[in-house]
Amino acid sequence: MVRTIALLVGAAFVFVLGISLFGTISTAISDPAPETAEHEFHLHPKDAELSSAGMFGKFDRQQLQRGLKVYQEVCAACHSLRYVSFRDLEQIGYSEGQVKALAQAWPIEQPGVNPDTGEAATRKNVASDRFPSPYANEVAARAANNNALPPDLSLIAKARHDGPNYVASLLTGYQNQPAELLRKFPDAKTPQGLYYNPYFPNLNIAMPPPITSDGQVTYEDGTKSTRDQMAKDVAAFLTWTAEPNLETRHGAGFASVIFLIIFVFLTIGTYRNVWRGVKH
Ligand code: HEC
Repeated sequence: MVRTIALLVGAAFVFVLGISLFGTISTAISDPAPETAEHEFHLHPKDAELSSAGMFGKFDRQQLQRGLKVYQEVCAACHSLRYVSFRDLEQIGYSEGQVKALAQAWPIEQPGVNPDTGEAATRKNVASDRFPSPYANEVAARAANNNALPPDLSLIAKARHDGPNYVASLLTGYQNQPAELLRKFPDAKTPQGLYYNPYFPNLNIAMPPPITSDGQVTYEDGTKSTRDQMAKDVAAFLTWTAEPNLETRHGAGFASVIFLIIFVFLTIGTYRNVWRGVKH
């Protein structure tokens, strides 16, 4: 009796599920979601093959230093890096003296107050300062960028899906709008003041192409500064700013797995020892 009721209840559930599935499929066929240019032309990031990717990934210090140079000479004009201090750069292979010199020579100064007059003033950076913002505030930032706001880049590699690859692809992804896009979606023409970039979610980004030619930044370690290379290097640098202790995390994960494997054998041994001589 109980079994028959259970079967009937089960059958009723399956019946209701079947009806709703049929409903969903028939609306999807009769009234499909409209095709959009974003849906059809958005691209997923290419693999930038950074050394920090993967379970055992480690940073390439040389690459991080090149990335810092790209940030300094190109991106810092528009983007802040407010969660990183100059002295953090010791982690990527600079000495204390080099960090001091770098902070001193940084092109953007720290906002401050003139102690004598009380008026706004700027002063040179010291090692304990965070990287200064190029704009006084959001209003000034928008005013200088066609009303778009250049986001702080400290955490961008974590804030975007597949961040490190995304940053590298975005920087080299600028192109002309494909003719096919305009044919299919005549209304989707890139508006004035924006730039077509299929890696940006809505395809049109307010950032003008920052990396425009090979050799734009001169590297000191002899690496050829092609556009691709500069994009990858700055992506690697921003991966480090977003997660400076990535290597420790990878190391800890690896150690835990080793420990768990040893622990499994210890447990099996203990089990066998405790139950030795007991007839099952
Ligand atoms: C002339 C100013 C300018 C320069 C130089 C510049 N950017 Fe931007 N950037 C912007 C603006 C403006 C936005 C906002 C774009 C938008 O919201 O459409 C932006 C957005 C971004 C974004 C976020 C995209 C997103 O998913 O929201 C990233 C990442 C980025 N820039 C990286 C860089 C890097 C790396 C450099 C240096 C190689 C750089 N930018 C140089 C102005 C600039």
